[in-house]
Amino acid sequence: MPITKKTNTKKQLNKANLEVIKPVKTKAYNDIDLNNWKLYENIKTGTWWEFDSRDKSNGHSYDYHGNYIPQIATQLLERYTKKDDIVLDLFFGSGTTGIEAKNLSRRCIGVELKQEMVDYVSQKFSKKDLVVNVNIIQGDSASEITKKKVQDRLEIMGNTHAQLLVLHPPYDDIIKFSDKKEDLSNCASTEEFYELFKKVAKNGYDLLEQNRFAALIIGDKYSNSRYYSLGFECQRRMEELGFVTKAVIVKNITGNEKAKGKNANLWRYRALAGGFNIFEHEYIMIFQKTKLKKVKTK
Ligand SMILES: C[S@@+](CC[C@H](N)C(=O)[O-])C[C@H]1O[C@@H](n2cnc3c(N)ncnc32)[C@H](O)[C@@H]1O
Repeated sequence: MPITKKTNTKKQLNKANLEVIKPVKTKAYNDIDLNNWKLYENIKTGTWWEFDSRDKSNGHSYDYHGNYIPQIATQLLERYTKKDDIVLDLFFGSGTTGIEAKNLSRRCIGVELKQEMVDYVSQKFSKKDLVVNVNIIQGDSASEITKKKVQDRLEIMGNTHAQLLVLHPPYDDIIKFSDKKEDLSNCASTEEFYELFKKVAKNGYDLLEQNRFAALIIGDKYSNSRYYSLGFECQRRMEELGFVTKAVIVKNITGNEKAKGKNANLWRYRALAGGFNIFEHEYIMIFQKTKLKKVKTK
């Protein structure tokens, strides 16, 4: 659901009892009026995110195992884009980012490896939207061919770069999305997953406008009796590419993990017996494509 400003604003009056109208003050990367910043109560600025339940309104549905909850897209789009900006999602899946971009009058380019998902998601948008507002590309986001295709779509949309990058990759092999060799959920090892992830992130870096933001949504995994910090490993690779980390947000996933909810006792027993802890969180990491300010040293 779009975030809306509170409208019952208190009028400010000056000494002559005339209403003071403050000019709108925004950053170059969003439409938040900083002169009225107290009105944006719904925009989250903390590092702990929890949502009551999944938004299933305004075109959203829980129709794909592994789709993220739309409220994440809402927060990202409101915070890091302006109206008409283009958000590039290199793991488009069921199109959550595209649906919310449309709801919030932003535009979107989505890349998805599975042709059947591209066909399915395309039905969620009108023919006009698919030409003007939401471009969906079938392809491998790690490849040069796909990068060129995105550049061509950007050109058609009147831009050279996207204004927000969203990366919601498979969490290694936790959910297997396909048997394709290019699929990040189908890697022979976690090291290979990191390599492919970095290739996708590099394309994203090149396609993103300077000084704009990127969001990485990812969870960690537990396998073969050990913990894999997928989130922090991918964060390191983002930084190696030149991204600057702006925030590491921890999101409560317990409300979303329906299947595990039913088997809560079984998981608790397994955790007690196996010495591990049950996942209750994933990460939303925020990056900026910007130059780090030089720190003066004595
Ligand atoms: C976690 S899901 C993304 C879900 C999406 N955020 C949503 O809300 O529906 C990851 C997606 O990445 C796709 N994928 C995996 N490897 C890919 C690749 N190399 N290029 C493009 N898409 C890929 C999978 O098919 C899957 O649909």
